Amino acid sequence: MMQDTAFHYLRYPWGVSFTGMLLVAGPAGGVLVDTALPEAVDGFLLPQFRHFGFSLSALRLVINTHHHEDHAGGNARLRELCGAKFAIHRAGAAGLEAAGFRPDLLLRDGALLESAGLRFEIIHTPGHSPDSVCVLESASGMLFTGDAFQGCGTVYTGIALYIDPEAYLQSVAKIEALFRQGRIRRILCGHACAPFDGDVPEEEIPAFLEICRETVLRYSRAAEAYLANHPRPDAAELGRQLLKRFGVTAAPGLPGLEKHTAQAHLAAR
Ligand SMILES: [Fe+2]
Repeated sequence: MMQDTAFHYLRYPWGVSFTGMLLVAGPAGGVLVDTALPEAVDGFLLPQFRHFGFSLSALRLVINTHHHEDHAGGNARLRELCGAKFAIHRAGAAGLEAAGFRPDLLLRDGALLESAGLRFEIIHTPGHSPDSVCVLESASGMLFTGDAFQGCGTVYTGIALYIDPEAYLQSVAKIEALFRQGRIRRILCGHACAPFDGDVPEEEIPAFLEICRETVLRYSRAAEAYLANHPRPDAAELGRQLLKRFGVTAAPGLPGLEKHTAQAHLAAR
């Protein structure tokens, strides 16, 4: 089956970078991971499908890595156009429903999804958000991570964006363990994560995961030093400090988001 399966890492141009999606197309149909933004469906996804000769009617399943709009925003438009089922981790259901979209399947860690002769494993990797998952295409070892891992940061935020540092570190360790078992052979991210462009080949995976871990520890040490000198800490101020010291871009595409990472470190103390 694998030789008949095509993998397309789709990068929807968005602001200063892109939102990534993965289309896995086999002889019996296809599975899409993430849908980017609402306008991405007609403006980008459909032309891409045509370019690859993939018929929208062959789309069987959509898996969202998490509920954030830049990854799940295209769900509703896609549902209008085809009969695919939509799946998300159960912790993301409320977020989708708040945006007016009801998913068909709610997933747990370790869930196995089989569709169109393709097989995917859901690996719960919270930290960026409570519902973040990685999607592993079992036969190829291709792992789509969405926003679960951010290296030194994305150009959108400027730094790595997460709301639970401890969970983020545990998620890094979880993926490392799977890599050591030989089950992961390529990582694809939802955005470019410095110093990588979003596509991490097998030989670079240990370095990528180590950078993710080191980044959290670096922010954590900076937060401790900040707290030692600021009896009334302010997350926005710590966020600006993190950006200044560790930022991967001088002008983030979505300024202000760094305060969420800062708040997470303050709350962890
Ligand atoms: Fe996100």
